[in-house]
Amino acid sequence: MKPSVPPLLLAKYDRPVPRYTSYPTVPAWTGLTKDAWYRSLESASAGRSEAELALSLYVHIPYCHSLCAFCACTRDIRRDRSLAPRFVDSLLRELELKSRTWPAAWSRARLRELHLGGGTPTWLPPAELSRLIGGIRERLPNADQVDISIEIDPRSFRLEHADALQSVGVHRASLGVQDFHVPTLRAIKRYQSRDQVELVVDALRARGIDRINFDFVFGLPLQTESTMAETGRHLAQLRPSRVAVYSYAHLPSLKPAQRDLERHGLPEAAKKRALYESLRESVETQGYVEIGMDHFALPEDELVAALTTGTLHRNFMGYTPRRTDLLVGLGPSSLSDSGFAFAQNEKDVERWHDRIERGDVDPIGGHALSREDRRRRQIILDLMCRFSTRLSDDEWTQIALSEITTVKSSA
Ligand SMILES: C[S@@+](CC[C@H](N)C(=O)[O-])C[C@H]1O[C@@H](n2cnc3c(N)ncnc32)[C@H](O)[C@@H]1O
Ligand code: SF4
Repeated sequence: MKPSVPPLLLAKYDRPVPRYTSYPTVPAWTGLTKDAWYRSLESASAGRSEAELALSLYVHIPYCHSLCAFCACTRDIRRDRSLAPRFVDSLLRELELKSRTWPAAWSRARLRELHLGGGTPTWLPPAELSRLIGGIRERLPNADQVDISIEIDPRSFRLEHADALQSVGVHRASLGVQDFHVPTLRAIKRYQSRDQVELVVDALRARGIDRINFDFVFGLPLQTESTMAETGRHLAQLRPSRVAVYSYAHLPSLKPAQRDLERHGLPEAAKKRALYESLRESVETQGYVEIGMDHFALPEDELVAALTTGTLHRNFMGYTPRRTDLLVGLGPSSLSDSGFAFAQNEKDVERWHDRIERGDVDPIGGHALSREDRRRRQIILDLMCRFSTRLSDDEWTQIALSEITTVKSSA
């Protein structure tokens, strides 16, 4: 049984915090020169043998067919898929340019993870999708042991996509399900049936792509504890190996389309927590293991083994069974992480194309991690991947002193 958190402690720390896909989070980055970024890549590769420099690639495909009102992702709504070939050309060119700009790091790199996210990677027509993944594999000589994953919007998925993914060796797929409750799906302008989800799952499994994740979101309009439990029960039939349950991030000043959700009413904090608990209970009743913050997996999934052995890690792309030395982003707005610094690609799609055409792949910004940043980052990772951390005596003293200051200033 899970230990329950004392209500007073819960109330004390019940404050909005960022979703730590990185520490510091992007809005807190202080800027980074291109020289500092390239020096940090050298630090990442220094002193390692060829086999040891493990590389993850993240490819951002920003395009989607239509806008879901709840969405907080970096996306670009386009119906015109004739943009796809030029976009894939630029991605492959970006990979070539980056490999030439950082020869020391690339010659030692072994590609371990390739993740296509978005937006919606299945916005790309199947032939372009396989040209992209095949092209990446060809351009990286050490890619024999790569684990390839892709985010799929069930509404833009065709059987030809399943064939294309199988032909280029995709291992894992993450489906944006969000909810199975139809009134909620209507309220967020996401017209997607359970049958559509089931068709995608069946098509992938028939082609051997059986490591499947479902994304759900809690805190959306018209969700109740019983609709969440009902949504959880659909898992019993479809049984993906992983489940992510994201807290709805309502940021209307940044994402104005989200205002539309307010007319249905959004749950306040206690109700939102109850929605999460309802789905969590339903998921756990079906045998899923809570492997980290808001993430669950079936006992046979490798994330559960990684949790047990202590190698579980979380990066910009989500939970992974092991840490890699270098994470490189391709595509507009994508992020990279050398372990010593973060860097961000050009965000605007047209400017990104222009820069690639000029042979410029320098970051537009980033952040050099100080020693303290790295320590804080490790503590957050420990909590997210191991549910505990070990603090030094000095760190305990710092916490005690800050508690005393808080009590004094509120007295
Ligand atoms: C890039 S999308 C997944 C792929 C595809 N675009 C789709 O929607 O199916 C990544 C995930 O982010 C989550 N997400 C998007 N907006 C969110 C928000 N405002 N709050 C919490 N999670 C959100 C959704 O669960 C979504 O599946
Ligand atoms: S939720 Fe997915 S499909 Fe919908 S707009 Fe956002 S990125 Fe696009």
